[in-house]
Amino acid sequence: MSDKFYITTPIYYVNAKPHIGHAYTTIAADVLARLRRSQGWDVSFLTGTDEHGLKIQKKAEENGKDPQQFVDGISEEFKGLWRSLNIEYSGFIRTTDTRHMMAVQKVLQILYDKGAIYKGKYSGMYCVGCEQFKSENELIDGKCPDHDTMPERMEEECYLLKMADIQDELIRKIESDEFRIAPERYKNEILSFLKNQSLNDISISRKNVRWGVPLPFDSEQTTYVWIDAFLNYLTGIGWNGEIDDIPKEWPADVQFIGKDILRVHATIWPAILIHLGIGLPKMLFTHGHILSDGKKMSKTLGNAISIEEMLEKFGVDGTRYLLLSAGPFGQDIDVTMERMIENYNADLANGIGNITSRIVALNQKMTGGFVGMDFLKKDVVAYDDGTLRENLKNLRLDLELRDIMIHVQELNKYIADNKPWEVFKSDERKFAVIMEHSSRGLMFIANKLLPFMPATAEKIKEALATRQVEILFQRIK
Ligand code: ME8
Ligand code: MG
Repeated sequence: MSDKFYITTPIYYVNAKPHIGHAYTTIAADVLARLRRSQGWDVSFLTGTDEHGLKIQKKAEENGKDPQQFVDGISEEFKGLWRSLNIEYSGFIRTTDTRHMMAVQKVLQILYDKGAIYKGKYSGMYCVGCEQFKSENELIDGKCPDHDTMPERMEEECYLLKMADIQDELIRKIESDEFRIAPERYKNEILSFLKNQSLNDISISRKNVRWGVPLPFDSEQTTYVWIDAFLNYLTGIGWNGEIDDIPKEWPADVQFIGKDILRVHATIWPAILIHLGIGLPKMLFTHGHILSDGKKMSKTLGNAISIEEMLEKFGVDGTRYLLLSAGPFGQDIDVTMERMIENYNADLANGIGNITSRIVALNQKMTGGFVGMDFLKKDVVAYDDGTLRENLKNLRLDLELRDIMIHVQELNKYIADNKPWEVFKSDERKFAVIMEHSSRGLMFIANKLLPFMPATAEKIKEALATRQVEILFQRIK
């Protein structure tokens, strides 16, 4: 029996096509999923699309489409991009799935029956881009800094979720890391937010939004899109809303999110779970935003790099590598096309590409008998080392890639220093020893690279597992 490991990404809004921000989170989650799988964990990896709410209702109208038809189209685009990026998810949840919607209704009824939800009124400034009410101190010059738009004043009769009575428990769970918020900086940010004010009850329904899950206890209203969305993390692994039938995958081991949605994930989401008596996720990992030349990448600013352009220039594995190596995982990262081209050439073309063709070409100088060598077998993976374990503690995927590049440089230096192409002419045995060492080094690099650049790593391993190489090592004996 292997241990379960459950990883989630946010479910992305289908108001527009996927972009490199979505790809960044999903690639990171895929790398962790592949890594854990290769180490023998029973991994579940859930992603999906968030398909209800005012923002999407409006977008569908603008496009003159029926909302369901509109969301079907964009949800497919997300799936298509994940195929192009070699994302191996085990589940894809859409919030317009009937099964999901029925579970959402069941949960709302439970919360209502418990008295955690009550009827009231809410008024505030609503940002449609965020699908959230915003307080004055979250606005800059009266505008939402993430969407550069003026929120609309809104006042509605609605249903509210009690927040005050879960606040102390939430603080305790975050402080003790039972509900770990990482990196540490974000844990501190959330704790100081929670300790400095009492949480307001939040509106969980909308009267004037048609495109949503109808409330089971009031057909005049639909469910607030974020409540609907959070429950995906449970319905996506098959939960139907029965409290005594929580899927075995739960709690999530790592929930990846961007910092734009940290606040809601660290307050509303655990509040729902605490009210329901369901355990909290083990870790909420927050990464930063992708910036371009110091500014948030956006279509309006014209500094956005398209994922299609990246795929065309750098290929699937190149794109995966360049996004994850662009900066510390957990902080904002700045990317420009210029720098990506530089890194592609230095790390991939001249780094990994060069060392592989050098070693493979040198190995092929040899011919002769045939005996298998275990370390050359393609299926030897289950890779683990101290550096990896250290990097995984804080999910520094970027540092793991840097470590791989250090090994590439060292191996390059070893070959340059030992000049096997010269040794080959004078001392065939010594040549074979140098090449065995180099091939082992390259196999080590390929195994470490496997979750990040799966197809490339497989190719390297195949190239090493040729008959010539096996022959070569037979000669050493
Ligand atoms: O917020 N840099 O969906 P969303 C890095 N549906 N990551 C970015 C990014 C950027 N510039 N832009 C987007 C929603 N992301 C809700 C989530 S979950 C219950 C509901 C990534 O389509 C990052 O992971 O706006 C961010 O948190 C997410 O996409 C927001 O996607
Ligand atoms: Mg967003």
